[in-house]
Amino acid sequence: MASDRIESLLARMTVEEKVGQLGVFADMVRPFAPDVNPEANVRNAEQVLEQVRAGRVGSLFNGVGAEAGRRIQQVAVEESRLGIPVILAADVIHGMRTVFPIPLGEAASFEPELARRTARATAVEATAAGIHWTYAPAVDIARDQRWGRGAEGAGEDVVLGCAFAAARVRGFQGDDLQAADALLATPKHFAAYGAVAGGMEYAQVDISPQTLRDVHLPPFKAALDAGALAVMSAFNDINGVPASANRWLLTDLLRGQWGFQGVVVSDYTADMELVAHGYAADARDATAKAFLAGLDLSMQSGFYAEHLPALVESGQVPMALLDDSVRRMLQLKEAIGLFDDPYRSLDPARERDHSHIAAHDALAREAARRSVVLLKNEEAVLPLRKAGQKIALIGPFAQDCDNIEGCWTLFGDQSRYVPLDVGLRTRLADPALLDVVAGCALEAPLDGGIEQAVAAARRADVVVLALGEPQRYSGEAQSRVEITLPAAQQALAEAVALTGKPLVVVLRNGRALALHGAVRDAQAIVVGWYLGTQTGHALADVLCGDYSPSARLPVSFPQHSGQQPYFYNHPRTGRPELPGMSEFKARWREISNAPLYAFGHGLTYTTFAYGPPQLDTTQLEWDGELEITVTLTNTGAVAGEEVVQLYVHDRVASRVRPVRELKAFTKVALAPGESRQVAFRLDRRQLAFTGADGQCRAEPGWFDVWVCASSASGEAVGFELLAPR
Ligand code: NOJ
Repeated sequence: MASDRIESLLARMTVEEKVGQLGVFADMVRPFAPDVNPEANVRNAEQVLEQVRAGRVGSLFNGVGAEAGRRIQQVAVEESRLGIPVILAADVIHGMRTVFPIPLGEAASFEPELARRTARATAVEATAAGIHWTYAPAVDIARDQRWGRGAEGAGEDVVLGCAFAAARVRGFQGDDLQAADALLATPKHFAAYGAVAGGMEYAQVDISPQTLRDVHLPPFKAALDAGALAVMSAFNDINGVPASANRWLLTDLLRGQWGFQGVVVSDYTADMELVAHGYAADARDATAKAFLAGLDLSMQSGFYAEHLPALVESGQVPMALLDDSVRRMLQLKEAIGLFDDPYRSLDPARERDHSHIAAHDALAREAARRSVVLLKNEEAVLPLRKAGQKIALIGPFAQDCDNIEGCWTLFGDQSRYVPLDVGLRTRLADPALLDVVAGCALEAPLDGGIEQAVAAARRADVVVLALGEPQRYSGEAQSRVEITLPAAQQALAEAVALTGKPLVVVLRNGRALALHGAVRDAQAIVVGWYLGTQTGHALADVLCGDYSPSARLPVSFPQHSGQQPYFYNHPRTGRPELPGMSEFKARWREISNAPLYAFGHGLTYTTFAYGPPQLDTTQLEWDGELEITVTLTNTGAVAGEEVVQLYVHDRVASRVRPVRELKAFTKVALAPGESRQVAFRLDRRQLAFTGADGQCRAEPGWFDVWVCASSASGEAVGFELLAPR
């Protein structure tokens, strides 16, 4: 039962008005850009306002601006029959005006609290610009790096994914949903969108119930437990049933087992796509199937508006079910206080005041440098020297400002973007010692580019090669068949490497890459993702040693594209590759099964030593807890931060278990020479998995546990989970 206000509204609504609340349409009154998918039901501003006036719109999305938002709301509240406010949504993914690192990059920080803070800052800016509701966070687990949308999530691991999902929801929504700066969150894309076959966007998902439950669903549960009130359904099918019409997923699991009370919004025209899937015969059938499965809101297709009233009239859709969905939508509006203050988050003065918040620049720089992963640093080529060292900065990303914001930024203030050359120049005692040459374009050679680059390299003491993927290689519909650098950039790297100068590769990337040749063999490799507004300063902080890198890989870097899908926590095989034994073993002909850089790997400018893990008991009682402690020491000459990671492995189980699984992690800052005891607690719940009967439970027996620096390091110690007594 909802509030009296909502029940009394429901009692007065016509079927058309009820269905109107379930319609989500592109905000053509204040569009950020021409519509990205113009074939579907686009209207002009006047038509949109007319629909609002007629009570046919529940929500508008991807518009911006407080003033124009007030105009929309005024029409809804003052000119429509029932005066129900609209809720204004947008894809605000990793920043609004201030752009923070792409979510995958930020996950590399292994600091969920950092993600909470950047999401909070994003919410402050977005709500100031007239937005109530974001379609974020994306919590899809990406185990195949060919898939382009891994950039939007937290990588390949479920525990890391859960931690970031929850932190981002908390950050967006804040402590008080009715506050003017609370932004509703929407974990997406429900579900298993990252499991598309071959990493190909929109392809089928054929998945075991165990993998679905143990890998792809937990981040959604974590996001809902953190307070999310909306979920976006995915485009893909799951074992033959499209997610957006999947009754088991949207109703039995989400509402039945998980008790979710909020709204399910379709992804863009996902209900319409049931016809192309061959799951619905026509628009009416698609509407019935999506709605009856539990999809509350229809985005952009207009199918609900067109077909739900007749479906209700015919009795195929019970009125009570329609009322349930409308009630949920009205409750969403009530939750953020829209009925009491329809103009919340629509204050032009606040929008002006918040157009540039200096503290957010500082946060963007902090988040960006905390997201940079140092993969390799031979002969301490990094940090660069700020004085007396001639540096050639070469590559298409040296001065680039067009590939800073990543694949999913609609509203970034581009005038504030800091390119790499500016960041570096600001840091050097004698900026004249920095020589900047593009060498090639993003995807093509430049006339004379290689010659100029080689000449600059010859003049220099050290070369920084700024290479990577154009940002449009990631994001929706950007699956790649090979996860390599564009050929023109590889050719540039090969030519520059022939000079014999020390090479530092700084990557811009939206996924793990397969690095080859001179890039793989460079003395230093820095993973720079798309770092947002403060890109140049953050990279310069790391390159010049003002910040000792502290991020770790949230995705495994394979040796070769052909290893995809590649993820560290794969199930054991009966024929594992063993040292010196690779014939008739699980491996490719040409290469070992090792990654080039493992999940969890990352260097700093110092070194850390791990003492042996100490268990307070090797016998974990069924209802007990186990404490695992290690002594961590900074054995280097500078301060640094280590991401201490705890992995477990179930030695014998009723289903084949992963070789290792991350269960906990923490980031520890230590001064040179300083030691600290790091303790983790484990209990049975962290050892549980989904069995053949679909139930999640731990099984008594022996486990291995590692406390270590990456998924490929450390020595295991054993403990036994005792059966219940
Ligand atoms: C399609 C994308 O898959 C989804 O992530 C996004 O929120 C919607 N379009 C709305 O723009």
